[in-house]
Amino acid sequence: MTQPSILVARAVFPETLELLSQHFEVDSNQADTVFSKAELIARLQGKWGAFTTGSERIDAEVLAACPDLKMVANMAVGYNNFDVPAMTARRVVATNTPDVLTETTADFGFALLMATARRVTESEHYLRAGQWKKWSYDMFAGAEVHGSRLGILGMGRIGQGIARRGAHGFGMDVVYHNRSRLAPDLEAACKARYVSKEELLRTADHLVLVLPYSAESHHAIGAKELDQMKPTATLVNIARGGIVDDAALARALREKKIAAAGLDVFEGEPKVHPDLLAVPNVVLTPHIASATIPTRKAMARLAADNLVAFHQQGRPLNPLNP
Ligand code: DGY
Repeated sequence: MTQPSILVARAVFPETLELLSQHFEVDSNQADTVFSKAELIARLQGKWGAFTTGSERIDAEVLAACPDLKMVANMAVGYNNFDVPAMTARRVVATNTPDVLTETTADFGFALLMATARRVTESEHYLRAGQWKKWSYDMFAGAEVHGSRLGILGMGRIGQGIARRGAHGFGMDVVYHNRSRLAPDLEAACKARYVSKEELLRTADHLVLVLPYSAESHHAIGAKELDQMKPTATLVNIARGGIVDDAALARALREKKIAAAGLDVFEGEPKVHPDLLAVPNVVLTPHIASATIPTRKAMARLAADNLVAFHQQGRPLNPLNP
């Protein structure tokens, strides 16, 4: 029996390719170039399935040009690169990789919060530049983390992981805002209190964004919201670029409307707004919140398992289609 053919759109672990090769004819992009839309469409011709990352956009145009496509498995929990309604309309199965990256991503959210609040990268640059001549009482004085108020916007699995770290590890007073309120047992587990978005913005000492990107969350943090925050506050985004208006944020950082920001994701990444690069009070990392080898292996394995499960049993493990 001939095996269905799939595209693995980016470089991935050899063991993932080996597993996929046991079930599929694999066309893999080991050169790891990011395909243009035309290249993606060309490579998807005749393919039954695809293994993607957040870099490949699967939209109505791609779907119309690839009539053989039956399934796309994203190696990411976020799936704003998929037009799920268009995929559903064409009966293309969409999957993501939840759970396996929750704790690792929450660890990184906390690392970014700490680095931002305590000015880790800014002070390191100062030292490396040979500017450190003497100790002084207020040199790189940052914001207190323990005992402060941690605000979380978006309280899914990763948000709850950040909340648990803040409440149990650092004695923080945790408040959150989300589309829907958590069940009481989940709120108790992370000692988090539900507040309005307005109260969250106005009272958080450290605000962490962990909500999915959608038309509704586009620029959820813009000039108006930044104006409502404390001038001593820090903002951390480990969710998606586009949730923050990067130009407005750079302005707010320059004008000290908030104290500092830590950003792992950017509008139009891998490009970064030049105004953000020009301000010192921001920690910038290249979308690495889930980047540990065990977690990336677990994500790759789950994306592959989704393709195999749908092929063999007609049901993927993590379906996104309603
Ligand atoms: C995710 O899983 O959504 C991360 O952002 C990695 O892309």
